[in-house]
Amino acid sequence: MDDLKQKYLGQIADAGDEAVLEAIRLSAVGKKGEVALKMRELGKMTPEERQVAGPALNALKDEINSALAAKKAALADTALDARLREEWLDVTLPARSRRQGTIHPISQVTEEVTAIFAEMGFSVAEGPRIDTDWYNFDALNIPGHHPARAEMDTFYMHRAEGDNRPPHVLRTHTSPVQIRSMETMGAPMRIICPGGVYRADYDQTHTPMFHQVEGLAIDQDISMANLKWVLEEFVKAFFEVDGVDLRFRASHFPFTEPSAEVDIRCSWEGGKLNVGEGDDWLEILGSGMVHPKVLKAGGIDPESWQGFAFGMGIDRIAMLKYGIPDLRAFFDSDLRWLRHYGFASLDQPTLHGGLSR
Ligand code: PHE
Repeated sequence: MDDLKQKYLGQIADAGDEAVLEAIRLSAVGKKGEVALKMRELGKMTPEERQVAGPALNALKDEINSALAAKKAALADTALDARLREEWLDVTLPARSRRQGTIHPISQVTEEVTAIFAEMGFSVAEGPRIDTDWYNFDALNIPGHHPARAEMDTFYMHRAEGDNRPPHVLRTHTSPVQIRSMETMGAPMRIICPGGVYRADYDQTHTPMFHQVEGLAIDQDISMANLKWVLEEFVKAFFEVDGVDLRFRASHFPFTEPSAEVDIRCSWEGGKLNVGEGDDWLEILGSGMVHPKVLKAGGIDPESWQGFAFGMGIDRIAMLKYGIPDLRAFFDSDLRWLRHYGFASLDQPTLHGGLSR
């Protein structure tokens, strides 16, 4: 028994990994191991012999088992030490700037717009980018024959012959979210909805996918004066100036009555876009009082409620604020452009902290 003990304790001490340890366990104290074989011999012994050999064998088995457990723990410690040494990291080193991303001006401006309207009590609503032509057109008082449908350069989703589902479009504006919000929230409400929209158009100030932010306020006593005030407050806060020249131009939208488009004074000197000076005007939004038919389509009684709505081009106001002359560059994914116009990734725009810093 002493021989067995010497042999196995020696092997355990020399074991270099868990697999070797397991092999030792099997041959020593496993079901068919040497200790088990010895136990079987107990049957052939006299009762006196057995009284000595039995406990001794059990003690041997215990001793080998605890040596195995201790060695196993030691091996795990060594492995952890090795791993800690290998994966050592100096967290005080500066981050590698070449891996640092920036916030795209569209995301930045969306955050800025949201912060400003949140301060005025507007919450954020969302809707799908692929919507039915009912939400995108009919519910907004643009029936099938209406010229506005053709003017919008709509992308229609392909429909297989015999497909009876309602036609779907890539939404041409964020206005369908007006209807969806009326359906889910009812009146009164104050929401904005920022998001991507699509039209088949492409030049320096148009891309097939661009961004709008819809605004909608419904209550019992709302007028054009409220709309004008909200937009003026927004523009001042957004451009971080005391006054900006705005031009409210009478216009027409099927879903508002009366309607106004709003332009902002700017200049395009030397390929750079400057806001607030010059003789040019850039249209940034359409607006008006929500048409009674639209309220009705959204399930709201136009006899008791009224509201204003606006749809503003996020990309447009981003170009104006940050002097970006070509809209197409927003979507080129050119890293040099992104580094130049991007924003630090951890700066959250807030009104009190400064929107753009
Ligand atoms: N949906 C209009 C557009 O895309 C903008 C708009 C929104 C006008 C809400 C009036 C009211 O041109």
